[in-house]
Amino acid sequence: MNTRPVFHGSDIEKICEYYHLNKEDIVNFAANVNPLGLSESVKAAAASHLDVLSSYPDREYTSLRETISGYCGIPADFVLPGNGSSELISLLIETRAPKKTLILGPTYSEYSRELALSGSSQDYYHLRESDDFVLDIPDLCRTLENGYDFLILCNPNNPTSSAVLTGGMEALLAFCRAHDIFVMIDETYVEFAPVVSNVTAVPFTRRYHNLMILRGVSKFFAAPGMRLGYGITGNKDFLEKMREKQIPWSLNSLGAYAGELMFQDLEYIAETRALILSERERICRELEDTETFKVYSPYANFLLLKIRKPGLTSADVFDSCIQNGMMIRDCSSFQCLEGEYIRFCIMKQEDNTRLLEILKTF
Ligand SMILES: Cc1ncc(COP(=O)(O)O)c(C=O)c1O
Repeated sequence: MNTRPVFHGSDIEKICEYYHLNKEDIVNFAANVNPLGLSESVKAAAASHLDVLSSYPDREYTSLRETISGYCGIPADFVLPGNGSSELISLLIETRAPKKTLILGPTYSEYSRELALSGSSQDYYHLRESDDFVLDIPDLCRTLENGYDFLILCNPNNPTSSAVLTGGMEALLAFCRAHDIFVMIDETYVEFAPVVSNVTAVPFTRRYHNLMILRGVSKFFAAPGMRLGYGITGNKDFLEKMREKQIPWSLNSLGAYAGELMFQDLEYIAETRALILSERERICRELEDTETFKVYSPYANFLLLKIRKPGLTSADVFDSCIQNGMMIRDCSSFQCLEGEYIRFCIMKQEDNTRLLEILKTF
């Protein structure tokens, strides 16, 4: 019998092999990457500046840090560029060397993997389905009182697409500061939020030194292969310690050059936000009335759906979508998600319409 393997993440190569499909024929609703692809103007500028590869990048990334400073509204010496937010997750955990970590879950699995390589213990605090995965901050604070020294959260969160808004975040940061708890916030998806200033904790880096925020260009700027990430903290001693541990020139010179252009590409940023905001509203509206799926209020460029129809599994829905050339994420491998869930990101309008048609057949 041909037993279907469990696919982790969005392993498009394995999935295509199993279903005998060409990668080029699949619309990837699982990678959470901006469907507009790389900005045309960035692409043209990068193509005509390939000579930057013949030099080492500036070791301090001064110009890039200044551009990020303008983009995020913080001083340039708050910024640490790196090799994707993945490198910075690892470097932050290694430098902070926590003893007892709490992770807000369900969430991205890399935090747990990196923590397992450190000496820290790790526990999950579960966002509750009964609260629509909206965080109960006083309850989280009560849990944190049990000796935790490090808190990890992703905001907006992958895979729930829920977010902690700034009012609640400030209360949480103040509590953590009073209890000597360092907070890492992964803001990989924040630029897709309906109102970014309601979600981002970047302005708090001026007042809270128990905080580091991680971001990157992989998702919003559709550049996961560029490996440009950056950390933001007002804690200069901590930033310096991370820098001392970091491999020199960890971000390549083409990434540093093109990254600067991306953050200044206002047209691309506006076009992306217009597409995501309007399609997110339309998709939510169209799925609202279905009995089969429950939709949670999304703040990122993806939606989490709970399957409510008895007997229907996330694997069934995945199967039907992939047979029609659309790869969604079957969420059965996420820790702390009990039940049947799927996640898919917002692609171009015509692709979203095709996916909605399939989902409505269930
Ligand atoms: C929440 C989250 N953080 C970080 C990453 C990795 O980002 P980067 O490409 O910047 O290393 C991902 C990738 O899927 C993600 O979902």
